[in-house]
Amino acid sequence: MPLATRPLTDRFGVEISGVDMAAALDPATAREIADLWYENGVVLFRGQDGLAEEAIVQFCRHFGELEIHVRKEYLSETNPELILISNVDEDGRRIGILGDHDVGWHHDQIYQRRPAVGSLLYAVELPAWGGNTAFANLAVAFEAMPDAMRARLDGLRAQHSYAFFNGQWSVPTDDEQTRLTPDVVHPLIRTHPVTGRKAIYADPGMTPAIDGLAADESRALLDEIFEWITRPEFVYEHAWAPGDALMWDNASTMHRRDAFDPASRRIMKRTTIMAPEDRAVPF
Ligand SMILES: [Fe+2]
Repeated sequence: MPLATRPLTDRFGVEISGVDMAAALDPATAREIADLWYENGVVLFRGQDGLAEEAIVQFCRHFGELEIHVRKEYLSETNPELILISNVDEDGRRIGILGDHDVGWHHDQIYQRRPAVGSLLYAVELPAWGGNTAFANLAVAFEAMPDAMRARLDGLRAQHSYAFFNGQWSVPTDDEQTRLTPDVVHPLIRTHPVTGRKAIYADPGMTPAIDGLAADESRALLDEIFEWITRPEFVYEHAWAPGDALMWDNASTMHRRDAFDPASRRIMKRTTIMAPEDRAVPF
């Protein structure tokens, strides 16, 4: 039976209702969700209150292998496939990454040789104000791009850097994490590993340069691309409710987050979903 859906915007994103993430997922429903996910870039499940960590992990396993994030200090102790994103201190230590400030546009893991193709973020506890997460669909943005601009990007490759992102939006990695996350180069136009659809694959947070161009030329081209891909018609902004789970496609969307009330607690749990092994390196 087809799942009940509601579009999140005119162009992309869908809310799926009637799915209980705590229950076992039959293969046909999992396939239907996967198709909606790839087609839309972002899928939303609401009302999943009180979801156990184990249930989040089991649900996500239907959509790919899960990766253990390099930021081991922020992983769930019982389910390391989950990384906590939080401003909460417990027993003198911060339980999650990213604090209460805003976080600029980025693709999760674009800085890796084999980047995640998906992420699922689950809202446990939310602040009094702020903390919305916005998504830009870069397949839609690419398809809407003027032909002349698209032609200029053809064949180019871009550099990506976790250190560049952390310098702007997060805390530095330790020596081992730095060793595991050297800068990488990927095609500026990425072909989706499952659907074959093409999308811009670069973002203001993690992409410092276009490979092989002079610095000023690279900066000017990136600014032009970023101005295009952040236009409101390519963006969905999500206002969270507790029990929301958003799953997005990292091959064709980027995301950012607003600052939020520093006096409030915000606790989110995220998984990292890998592409099929033979198509894990962007092409
Ligand atoms: Fe992210």
